[in-house]
Amino acid sequence: MTIHWGICSTGRIAETLAAALTSVSDAERTCVSSRTLEKAQTFAEKYGFRRAYGSLEEMLRDEELDVVYIASPMACHYDQAKAAILAGKNVLCEKSVTLNIQQLAELLELARKKRVFFMEAMWMNCRPSFRKAMEWIRSGRIGEVQMVKADFCNRVAYDEKDRLFRPELGGGCLLDLAVYPFTLAEAVFGGRPEQIHSQMHMGKSGVDFDMAAILQYKGGFAAVTAGFDIPCGNNAVIIGSKGSVELGNWFMCTCEATLYDENNAVLERFHEDNLCNGYEYEIVEVNRCLRAGLAESQLVPHTGTIHVMEMMDACRTQWGFQFPQEM
Ligand SMILES: NC(=O)c1ccc[n+]([C@@H]2O[C@H](COP(=O)([O-])OP(=O)(O)OC[C@H]3O[C@@H](n4cnc5c(N)ncnc54)[C@H](OP(=O)(O)O)[C@@H]3O)[C@@H](O)[C@H]2O)c1
Repeated sequence: MTIHWGICSTGRIAETLAAALTSVSDAERTCVSSRTLEKAQTFAEKYGFRRAYGSLEEMLRDEELDVVYIASPMACHYDQAKAAILAGKNVLCEKSVTLNIQQLAELLELARKKRVFFMEAMWMNCRPSFRKAMEWIRSGRIGEVQMVKADFCNRVAYDEKDRLFRPELGGGCLLDLAVYPFTLAEAVFGGRPEQIHSQMHMGKSGVDFDMAAILQYKGGFAAVTAGFDIPCGNNAVIIGSKGSVELGNWFMCTCEATLYDENNAVLERFHEDNLCNGYEYEIVEVNRCLRAGLAESQLVPHTGTIHVMEMMDACRTQWGFQFPQEM
């Protein structure tokens, strides 16, 4: 069964996913929407989509369309995902999935009522290296997990027009970058942390440019940093009582994972090259779920997305930081 894909918005990540779609044989590049029809047409021509629309509303009336991939700034996700769900379409929504837990809870409830599939586009979880690391950890190869250390710094030159720096678009490093280390910690420890301690550096445009957090779980803790300014690294290591697992540099998109014993000797190395650009794995997972008639993916479960959003809300509460839409 071919799955008919539609992309909402034609920015940077939409281009990346469109390229990945060309590599998945049972994914049809059906349609694309943009705020301007010309942009949608140019995008459609470039990546081989059959139809282009000048608005999401028009695209949602496309009868062939099975799943909408939402690739807009964070602040747009809630309205667009809601419209897609109400139109009875399945949704793959970019990270961070919404601005806050209230928006997410509403979308999940709506998706349940409308019996459509909903998944945050947490591509990291679908990647072979991540899945191998989780397999080692969950099968007890490193004993009891004691600590997760994960950092994600993406140094970006300041640009007041870029969504990353704009509060009204859901900017800031928490929702853009820290969502990955938080998701890793959630996947490893499961459940909600008992306590969160976090700090941030507020940048000149009124969003968090850098942040750090300690998540205290029952059995251990996670130390997380993220930032646009500080080169805090891009590595992740999961440390247990009998060994550790290291994901390669740029842990969210690495092709590698390494398993060590308690003396730091390598037990196993895993490496699997991408089939395309690494985003194909989430496409394959969505297709698999839709064919199986599932409402959610076990690789990116709703509970995980909820826990991460709650953690990010808790950080923002500690910082006294609200998005304009929340004031
Ligand atoms: N998974 C990943 O690796 C990854 C990487 C980067 C980003 N992301 C996520 O993907 C999303 C988009 O990021 P991006 O870097 O691609 O952003 P971007 O380059 O700024 O593109 C976003 C697109 O959304 C539309 N848009 C912009 N402003 C809008 C507004 N005010 N209202 C409605 N639509 C608007 C525009 O498309 P049109 O002009 O066509 O409407 C724009 O090209 C974010 O949620 C981000 O966190 C994920």
